[in-house]
Amino acid sequence: MDWAALKESKFGVGLRRPHFDAILEQHRGVDFVEILPENFMGFGGRIEDVLKRVKARFPIVAHGVSLSLAGLDPLNQTYLNNLKTFVETLESPWFSDHLSASSGHGIEYHDLLPFPYTHEAVGYIGDRIKKVQDVISRPFLIENPSTYVVLPGEMPEIEFLCTLLDKAECGLLLDVNNIFVNSQNHGFDPYAYIDAIPAQRVLQMHLAGHDDQGEFLIDTHGAPVCAEVFKLYAYALKHCGPVWTLLEWDNNIPALDVLLAENQKVRKWAAEVDDA
Ligand SMILES: [Fe+2]
Repeated sequence: MDWAALKESKFGVGLRRPHFDAILEQHRGVDFVEILPENFMGFGGRIEDVLKRVKARFPIVAHGVSLSLAGLDPLNQTYLNNLKTFVETLESPWFSDHLSASSGHGIEYHDLLPFPYTHEAVGYIGDRIKKVQDVISRPFLIENPSTYVVLPGEMPEIEFLCTLLDKAECGLLLDVNNIFVNSQNHGFDPYAYIDAIPAQRVLQMHLAGHDDQGEFLIDTHGAPVCAEVFKLYAYALKHCGPVWTLLEWDNNIPALDVLLAENQKVRKWAAEVDDA
């Protein structure tokens, strides 16, 4: 895979219900939108109509939450087959999902749960990623997760991530807020984490706000991006080169003009990296 050929600088926001109509009228600074297939795939009516109109205006990238790469249930072949058709229709340049478990015993958790960072897990998840790539036949990116507990394992998160990227030959969606949240919750240096990332594999980044609960940071996607995360983003951009940056705001969703102003702030931070 020639990852370098896919690297490009773009700035986007998530397509969320409160902005379905407004974003077609008001979208200054938005180069692309990201959607969760789970909210659009297989729907007709208004959802299908919105998606068609948005696709006519913006590039769309699909970002899933249901693969459960680290889960013990078999991969859902029906979901994968539907996903292949869906991302092809969208012309999504790649597909991404999280490095976590999101279901077990046939039950969807609607949450992204951690797993132990072991050599066995590298093999198991690596094989599952290869199966996903075989079906969807386009670049597949895993996203580094936010976690609140580190389960007993054999290596730190960053070593697990880099080993897995090598084994699975997949790309990385680098969530900068997740690195910051984990570094505070588990006590590691977020800058050293970024230094270790294979830069060429990173095609997309996520930025989001979190909630400071004192003892823990919670990855809520419900607030503006804080200054420390923006600084880390600038550092990550210098390390990784051009990427698609997506501003995630999924709770306490603000008015569209507030979201667009925050997206412009992201562009400004990135422009300063380019000028440096
Ligand atoms: Fe994310």
